[in-house]
Amino acid sequence: MPPVVVKPGIYWIGVNDRTTDLFEGLWPITREGVSYNAYLIDDERKAIIDLAKSIKTDEFFEQIEDVIDLSEIDYVVVNHLEPDHAGIIQMLKRLAPRARILGTAKAQQMLESFYGITDGVQVVSDGETLSLGKHQLRFVYTPFVHWPETMMTYEVTEQVLFSCDGFGGYGALRGALFDSDCTDHEFYERESLRYFVNIVAVFSKPVLQAIDKLADTPISVVAPSHGLVWREDPGRIIELYARWASYASAPAEPGITLIYASMYGNTEHMMNAVSQGVSQEGVPLNVFDINHTHVSYILPSLWSNQGVIVGAPTYEGALFPPMAHVLDMAAQKRIRSRTVARFGSYGWSGGAQRHFERLIEPLKWDLTESFEFVGSPTHEEFRHGEEFGARFGRLIKQG
Ligand code: FEO
Repeated sequence: MPPVVVKPGIYWIGVNDRTTDLFEGLWPITREGVSYNAYLIDDERKAIIDLAKSIKTDEFFEQIEDVIDLSEIDYVVVNHLEPDHAGIIQMLKRLAPRARILGTAKAQQMLESFYGITDGVQVVSDGETLSLGKHQLRFVYTPFVHWPETMMTYEVTEQVLFSCDGFGGYGALRGALFDSDCTDHEFYERESLRYFVNIVAVFSKPVLQAIDKLADTPISVVAPSHGLVWREDPGRIIELYARWASYASAPAEPGITLIYASMYGNTEHMMNAVSQGVSQEGVPLNVFDINHTHVSYILPSLWSNQGVIVGAPTYEGALFPPMAHVLDMAAQKRIRSRTVARFGSYGWSGGAQRHFERLIEPLKWDLTESFEFVGSPTHEEFRHGEEFGARFGRLIKQG
């Protein structure tokens, strides 16, 4: 994609990644892709804000050279040192040796530990400003959105917030860079939530602190380092991030995530009855067969919905292992204080329930009800499952 004018003198110079299968080696993006957005400010002094992963480096540098010569770069602002943004910094340093690298004190340490860079680095302080000519940059420390060294950069004249991971999302750009040109907001908002939960949600408190810190800053464009650039409605993505971050400590939405796994179809059969019961109550319900859905896609639902129903059988005296993994990941992502119920089949002595209760202890999930059945469910057990689903649905609906 050629450079795109964001505001006078400010260009998007990012790249789209449609070949990486796992973001951070963990989260699937094969179908969705991701963009590494970087920006160039062409003024009396020239600045690059954030870089990219070390793919398509030729494309990246060609985009800069469409506007200026690489040797003209005065500053490279590194809001964040994770290699999806700073992966090409050594190459850039070789091509633009005059450029000074600007970041936080913590970024200075990380430049050495990740990239072996010790010279040409200038630490900027929180609130410090830098004049490029017509454009003024202000550096805003936002630690732990996503790593400890993270900051955002605000361009004062055009009111552009370069927010790096904050307000970002998965999804390669499909021709439209701006929210105003995008015809599939649903895709980008869904992928922003998945990105938020996969990558940033553990740091929800710092996200809310950053949003508070920026509350009095007029923002005409939110320019993150992943996904759409928000210029028609910059408040939209900030509001979404604030809402999602609030689910870390406040009750989530009155919906239910039903996660199930089945070895031979008995627990799946019961899942249908339980789902019927929930649906009768008109409560929003997301159902996931965890053996066919990567946990990356399940976590956003667990994060956003207050209710969780777990359907999983006993396996060797314990909870079916893939379900234990999903609950481990929920704990890793600190999805806490949800309301939960469980069902599942067992063959002879059971054991899943005990294991399940141990697993949800650190999550502080409130277990309201559970039931198990031996082998395949009877008609009476199906009826019980339907009533169990309806009871849980009513509970979540009442809040
Ligand atoms: Fe997009 Fe934390 O890197």
